[in-house]
Amino acid sequence: MEESFPMTGGDGPHSYTKNSSLQKAAAASAKSMLTSGILENLVVEHSSKMFAIADLGCSTGPNTFIAMDNIIEAVTQKCKIKGYCSLPEFQVYFNDHVSNDFNILFANLPSDRKYFAFGVPGSFHGGLFPKASLNIIYSAFALHWLSRAPQELGDVNSPACNKGRIYYSNAPHEVGQAYSLQYAKDMESFLAARAEELAPGGLMIILMPGRPNGTLPSQNSLGPFIKPLESCLTEIKTLNN
Ligand SMILES: C[S@@+](CC[C@H](N)C(=O)[O-])C[C@H]1O[C@@H](n2cnc3c(N)ncnc32)[C@H](O)[C@@H]1O
Repeated sequence: MEESFPMTGGDGPHSYTKNSSLQKAAAASAKSMLTSGILENLVVEHSSKMFAIADLGCSTGPNTFIAMDNIIEAVTQKCKIKGYCSLPEFQVYFNDHVSNDFNILFANLPSDRKYFAFGVPGSFHGGLFPKASLNIIYSAFALHWLSRAPQELGDVNSPACNKGRIYYSNAPHEVGQAYSLQYAKDMESFLAARAEELAPGGLMIILMPGRPNGTLPSQNSLGPFIKPLESCLTEIKTLNN
């Protein structure tokens, strides 16, 4: 069973809409790579009348709107460089889990957008679109989410039991391995679905957190946030028991 934990909806002080500047800044720093990736690798034909872009794990905005504008700007630039006299019509498919707050996403769609907008509810670990229908598949800060927590983590008889922790840093090797195995399975189903959906000459653009080869799990960039959260949650649990 797939587990879903969407971002906080609405536009209140604790909403994702008001608390996603970290992701926004990281995407901004990758903008030049996104543009050059599109200029150098995307195939866009003179005869293309429609151009479909999907944002997988789009959440509630506003970052997805900025990303879609950046992609359309780069594709437009590419068409101009190629000397095409007309642009294709752009379609943007916003995907997230069914429980995502799509209402706030649609309510905040930019009025000056240069695309037709669609919502696509469902998990990106399965198929979401017709075969060869997407020219660009984009996903930012979403693909590191697992479809579910590995079962062994909660099994006190397993060497991969992750008792007293909410993450794998400083955990026994088996815990990291359980997460890795789940991630490999999830990536396999993600890539199998996208291989069907991407049109010939299309491009997939993925932004996600990671850590350099050879560094320890505890050295990942989120470590400093997770450790204090872990100890708060453990303390609350102890107080409740
Ligand atoms: C941190 S938000 C990133 C939102 C946006 N892409 C951005 O850059 O600001 C991660 C989003 O991925 C979504 N997500 C996680 N797993 C997913 C899945 N299997 N299918 C669809 N969306 C998923 C979550 O619901 C959440 O909205």
